[in-house]
Amino acid sequence: MAYDDIYAAWKADPEGFWMRAAEAIDWERRPSKALFDENAPIHEWFSDGLVNTCYNAVDRHVEGGRGEQVAIIHDSPVTGTRAQITYAELQQRVARLAGALAARGVTKGDRVIIYMPMVPEALVAMLAATRIGAIHSVVFGGFAANELAVRIDDAAPRAVIAASCGIEPGRVVPYKPLLDEAIELADRKPEFCIILQREQQRAELTPGRDFDWHEVQEGVEPADCVPVEGNHPAYILYTSGTTGQPKGVIRATGGHLVALNWSMKAIYGMDPGDVFWAASDVGWVVGHSYICYGPLIHGNTTVVFEGKPVGTPDAGTFWRVISEHRVKALFTAPTAFRAIKREDPAGELVKKHDLSSLQTLFLAGERSDPDTIHWAQEQLGVPVIDHWWQTETGWAITAIPAGLGEMPPVRIGSPGLPMPGYDVRVLGEDGRELPAGELGAIVIKLPLPPGTLPNLWNAEDRYRKSYLDRFPGYYETGDAGYRDTDGYLYIMARTDDVINVAGHRLSTGAMEEVLASHPDVAECAVIGVADPLKGQLPLGFLCLNAGAGRDPAEVVAEVVKLVREKIGPVAAFKLAVVVDRLPKTRSGKILRGTMAAIADGRDWKMPATIDDPAILGEIAEALKTLGYPKS
Ligand code: COA
Ligand code: AMP
Repeated sequence: MAYDDIYAAWKADPEGFWMRAAEAIDWERRPSKALFDENAPIHEWFSDGLVNTCYNAVDRHVEGGRGEQVAIIHDSPVTGTRAQITYAELQQRVARLAGALAARGVTKGDRVIIYMPMVPEALVAMLAATRIGAIHSVVFGGFAANELAVRIDDAAPRAVIAASCGIEPGRVVPYKPLLDEAIELADRKPEFCIILQREQQRAELTPGRDFDWHEVQEGVEPADCVPVEGNHPAYILYTSGTTGQPKGVIRATGGHLVALNWSMKAIYGMDPGDVFWAASDVGWVVGHSYICYGPLIHGNTTVVFEGKPVGTPDAGTFWRVISEHRVKALFTAPTAFRAIKREDPAGELVKKHDLSSLQTLFLAGERSDPDTIHWAQEQLGVPVIDHWWQTETGWAITAIPAGLGEMPPVRIGSPGLPMPGYDVRVLGEDGRELPAGELGAIVIKLPLPPGTLPNLWNAEDRYRKSYLDRFPGYYETGDAGYRDTDGYLYIMARTDDVINVAGHRLSTGAMEEVLASHPDVAECAVIGVADPLKGQLPLGFLCLNAGAGRDPAEVVAEVVKLVREKIGPVAAFKLAVVVDRLPKTRSGKILRGTMAAIADGRDWKMPATIDDPAILGEIAEALKTLGYPKS
């Protein structure tokens, strides 16, 4: 059967489709059915099954004869080290850490925050939490103390597991002081912290609260897997929304296991034993689904890469990793390829490596521009597959499946066709479905498939408001785009204030909150401007308080520093300009879209509702001082 037949088979019998997929998972108690729609529009999957995530990702492979297979390859050009962990070793490490958590009182349903760089211990920590039914929440290392504090307060973790430091090219990032500050800021203090001391920078431990990673595990009883209900949260992952308060996306255990396991073969074409490499970070959804869980649940070898596509040490690093570890499929963000292409346009470094193991390149996280896709295709000589998904869904909404028989043709500019489970529609403002070729809001007919979010952590109202209320019966993705007559989807823009910087999802609203907190800023707006490397960059407009008498350049420098301190370096907020006024509609809404169009040099129409058109001229002048639009 090929893609068309399989999609049709799902549509004809979704229940049967997912129950069959669920057979590939080892259940303690099999679920009686797949979909639980009693609380529609809140849907759950496999709720009455009993199952453990870690057992399926680790123990069952050891029991099934894969104990000596490498589970995790750690390749770290920033520390000059490489290491391999077999499934049998992973089982021991995870059981011991889980035992240490349990010995300190962590139990089913407790939250554990993980704040770690790209080291195998990050995966060990995630698996140790799910082993005992605890709910982990991984926070990306590039976030500042304040962002970590917001997540600590929302998740109220019993424990935090962190590393003493992360390593960015040219600098060591001490994580522990950030953690200490976050705990100081947070109202809901964790009971204890487990700290992995890295030799690049050891951390001071707070007696009574902080425990050394190794010491805390000494003499503890390794913990067994605790079976949990199919709808028990495996993890919470915070993602950017329209405000400074991130959304806690819940991932329920049963659907997560079933969907990720299915996707490894169907979408990525992987067989157990193959080496899969997602060059992302454990702090993002790609890291959760395809550095940690997907490959391990499916019995693959996963690569944990601690480095960058360029500069660690050069633009040939990706090719070295592929050839050295015989990587079969690589998954990364287009930004990584743009960075490599910029440094090695002729692909001289590509030619130096044996890339014969590589069968497919997958791109996601942001729009793939045709130039990058063509370059990657020419250099690697393998299919380059753009696919589209989001933190909320946990796995691809649209893709070109590499493992469902003959591959449907790739169409450059499109992230492919809907995957089974996703009934994707394009709706107009009035909620009516639009014909092919017309741009509208991209929505998914409910229910969403297994593995997608059932809710937001402690925020059902927000879940309904953000995703379900605008188009009843559908999940609103927040992306706008269109379909062609053959059903290929095209993603054109976000419909909210989320921007995408180097494949990282960021909220302009959150940045505006930080700018507005500066004592001399009366009003502000942040927009995303096009950037040839990172896709988008944030750019801020500041109106200063009358009589502040401040040098604009100084205030700009202060707000840049403030965003770095409050949100983190990952916000990449470096562009800001002081203006007298912001363009608004007569009802007072800031015209961010028009400002972004001017900054990008795109065609734009004077908004009919604009209050004072002259302000747009002032904005254009201010943008010129920053070099926008780029010619
Ligand atoms: N801990 C601490 N700081 C971090 C960090 C982490 N885990 N990750 C990033 N940062 C910092 C960087 O050091 C940088 O700081 P700087 O302003 O002092 O230079 C800042 O955050 C921005 O980081 P980044 O967006 O990674 O930009 P970069 O200029 O360092 O690198 C690329 C550019 C293109 C090489 C890089 O963005 C990249 O590899 N992108 C791939 C994207 C990706 O994997 N996305 C995940 C979704 S699939
Ligand atoms: P995140 O939740 O961080 O994975 O970000 C999800 C958002 O990134 C999506 O809603 C899109 O706006 C964007 N995105 C992800 N993948 C793609 C893609 N292949 N093409 C275009 N945009 C994408």
